[in-house]
Amino acid sequence: MQNAQTAGPVRIGLIVGSTRPGRRSAAVADWVGRTVAEHPDVRAGDAVVETLDLAEQDLPLLDEPVPALFGDYRRPHTRRWAALVGACDAFLFVTPDYNRSLPAALKNAVDYLYAEWNDKVAGMVTFGVQGGTRAGDHLQTVLGEVRVTVVPTRVSLGLFTDFDFSGWPQGDPTAPGRLAPAADRASALERMVTEIVTWSRALRPAEQAGVAVGSPELVG
Ligand SMILES: Cc1cc2nc3c(=O)[nH]c(=O)nc-3n(C[C@H](O)[C@H](O)[C@H](O)COP(=O)(O)O)c2cc1C
Repeated sequence: MQNAQTAGPVRIGLIVGSTRPGRRSAAVADWVGRTVAEHPDVRAGDAVVETLDLAEQDLPLLDEPVPALFGDYRRPHTRRWAALVGACDAFLFVTPDYNRSLPAALKNAVDYLYAEWNDKVAGMVTFGVQGGTRAGDHLQTVLGEVRVTVVPTRVSLGLFTDFDFSGWPQGDPTAPGRLAPAADRASALERMVTEIVTWSRALRPAEQAGVAVGSPELVG
């Protein structure tokens, strides 16, 4: 286990997965943060949420000479990112669809680390023209390789169903729109957080035992 607490509240890192100027992920993450703050476990102090914004991490394209699996991090930005991720028990990823996949910045941020992700739990809020489901599918595959378990409930937001573009010129490609999630999105998010907290507590023994260390298929 890398630094995450062995007891106490489940610490959930809310990862903002895109970095471009004018990104909608910031508004989505803001809504996620506000909605999750109302979750009973968060209100009771049994779970806490910290935003980890990739735009603030400013990670270059992977520039570590040693693959993350070996845990030999040389760059200050890697160590900073490792400390933040390692302090979390679980993650809530906000990711848009970029060309039927997750943004390169998010894939890069996953690739930087290994042990800090291991044996932890994640949920996903995806968005895009078609709800960002392909980004979610790809992210789940990527997370499987760093031993993150993804809970079953996902929240999908569609640009044409969960954003309101009234007030912006029609066809303006820079119009961010206003996030206006459909009625059932908040309840799906609440269910997802319940799953994250429950599964995360269940996985703590695996996290503590460091079951990923020495996995033959990975170090061979
Ligand atoms: C490079 C790029 C590729 C995109 N590809 C897709 C796509 O394949 N499917 C989709 O539904 N939306 C796609 N979109 C639309 C985005 O999901 C939408 O613009 C979203 O707001 C992007 O997230 P961001 O605003 O946080 O950068 C793409 C957007 C960009 C910038």
